[in-house]
Order: sequence, then structure tokens, then C-alpha cells
Amino acid sequence: MNLNTTLVVLAHPDRRSFNGAWAKATGKASAALGHTVLWSDLTAMEFDPVEAARHYRRSLSDGVFDPLKEQEKAAETGRIPKDVAGEIDKLRRADRVVFHFPLWWFGPPAILKGWFDRVFAHGATHSVEERFDTGRFLGRKALFCVTTGSNEAESAFNGKEGDVQMLLWPAAYALRYLGFTVLVPEIVHGVHGYHKGARAERLRDHLTSVLKAQPDVMAAFDRRPALHFNSDAEFDAQGRLKPQSPSHSLFIRHTP
Ligand SMILES: Cc1cc2nc3c(=O)[nH]c(=O)nc-3n(C[C@H](O)[C@H](O)[C@H](O)COP(=O)(O)O)c2cc1C
Repeated sequence: MNLNTTLVVLAHPDRRSFNGAWAKATGKASAALGHTVLWSDLTAMEFDPVEAARHYRRSLSDGVFDPLKEQEKAAETGRIPKDVAGEIDKLRRADRVVFHFPLWWFGPPAILKGWFDRVFAHGATHSVEERFDTGRFLGRKALFCVTTGSNEAESAFNGKEGDVQMLLWPAAYALRYLGFTVLVPEIVHGVHGYHKGARAERLRDHLTSVLKAQPDVMAAFDRRPALHFNSDAEFDAQGRLKPQSPSHSLFIRHTP
């Protein structure tokens, strides 16, 4: 890991979008702080998010394609697919990873989920011994910068569109699995092109203020609070939360 290296991962089909502009603001602010800035603009890179046998050198006798074993074998034999190897290299170099994406169908866009599926490769980024508290990416921090079309009330714990913090939990937990500290996300609500008149103007002003504030977000990165996850010791031998352990999320709780 190189200190002061920020990887910006953008999962939006157009850099001219608000998400694109926000990611650019993160890159610019990080560079101004003296960071080396690495970029993964997934759509522009035409990153293939589909984990499949075609990415690996296999013969017919290899049998059923088992993604975990194939990833592990590729890591052992130095045959990680080139596009994935490039992404793993960036991940290893960065001490900060900032993800920019819109909420699509109550989760990250498929291209980002697929980037997780392929880049968080077994053997290369985690193993049975190196995950959670012993993850290979301990000491590094990740931040989600997310836009939603729904408004703040609809995205709240009792909102009609579902609690956005919970919707982001599986993606955050994937990073936690690798050992990352995952910071409290930065979320901008009500981002869509259907506002009219004064509402459209208000949204424009708000989005401009978000871009202007991004240098402060990046300057305060190390002081930003982190999400809480259970430590390994808080689970029993079967992997169940111990009765005396705290529950930090409805995903891991004491009652069904
Ligand atoms: C395929 C698709 C699915 C979407 N699903 C959701 C959703 O589940 N929740 C939500 O709040 N907004 C949803 N939206 C709205 C987007 O979050 C919104 O368009 C985006 O945040 C705007 O950012 P942009 O201007 O940078 O594209 C969806 C949009 C698309 C295109």
C-alpha cells in the first residue's frame, strides 16, 4: 500500500453526469491534497462485469466452471485475467478508495457489483485465513458517494424506497470482508432530470454546492466516522452472533 494514494471508482455510464462530475471533484480534491490519484471509470474502460469461464485458460477436461477455485488457481499460477489484474494492482496501491455511483434498483449498478465479483478475487484479494479482522486490506479506507433518485424521506429508515443505509450494507460488507474500514457514506438525494422550474433550479444549486464541498469531504476523510461491523470474536464457532455481542445492523441481529 502506498500512503496518499486515492483510487476513484466511477460506476456511471456518462462522465458528464452528476456522478461523473462528483467523481472528478473527488479526484481533483485528492490531487490538491498531494495524493496520487488512480482512476477506474468502469464504463469508459468497458469493464466486463460478468465472471465467466471465458476469462480463464481452461480445457474441456477442467469440468464445471467453479469461480472461486478458478480465481484461486489463476492467482497461484499468475494467470489472473489482465483486466482484473490491473484493478487489483490499483486496489493494492491505494490507501483510500472512493466509489461514485447512483442507486439503481435498490443497489449499486451491475457494473460495480460485477467489478466486486471479479476483482475481489479469491486467492488474490482474500483467502479463508485472510478476511474480516485478518483481511488483506486492513488499514485502508473506503467511501461510497451515492446519488438516489428518491428523496431523503423516501430513503430513510421508514421510507417507501427502503432505508438507503441498509441497501448499501451488502456492498459495504464486501469491503469489510476484505479488511477495509468503510466510512459513513455521502449520499445526495432527489437527483433526477424530471424536476421542473424552481425545483430544477434548487436541485442544480444543491448539486453545485455538493461539488464545491467535496474538497472538504476529502480533507476530512481521516476524521470521518466509520460504519460499525462485528469483530470476528463476536461470533461463536458456528459463525452466529454471540448473545452478548452488539448488533450493528438488521443484517446481523439477535432476533429473527
Ligand atoms: C436503472 C435505474 C434504476 C434506478 N433505481 C433507483 C432506485 O432503486 N432508487 C432510487 O432512489 N433511484 C433509482 N434510480 C434513479 C437514479 O438513482 C438517479 O437517476 C441517479 O441517482 C441520478 O444521478 P445522475 O444524474 O448522475 O445519473 C434508478 C435509475 C436507473 C437508470
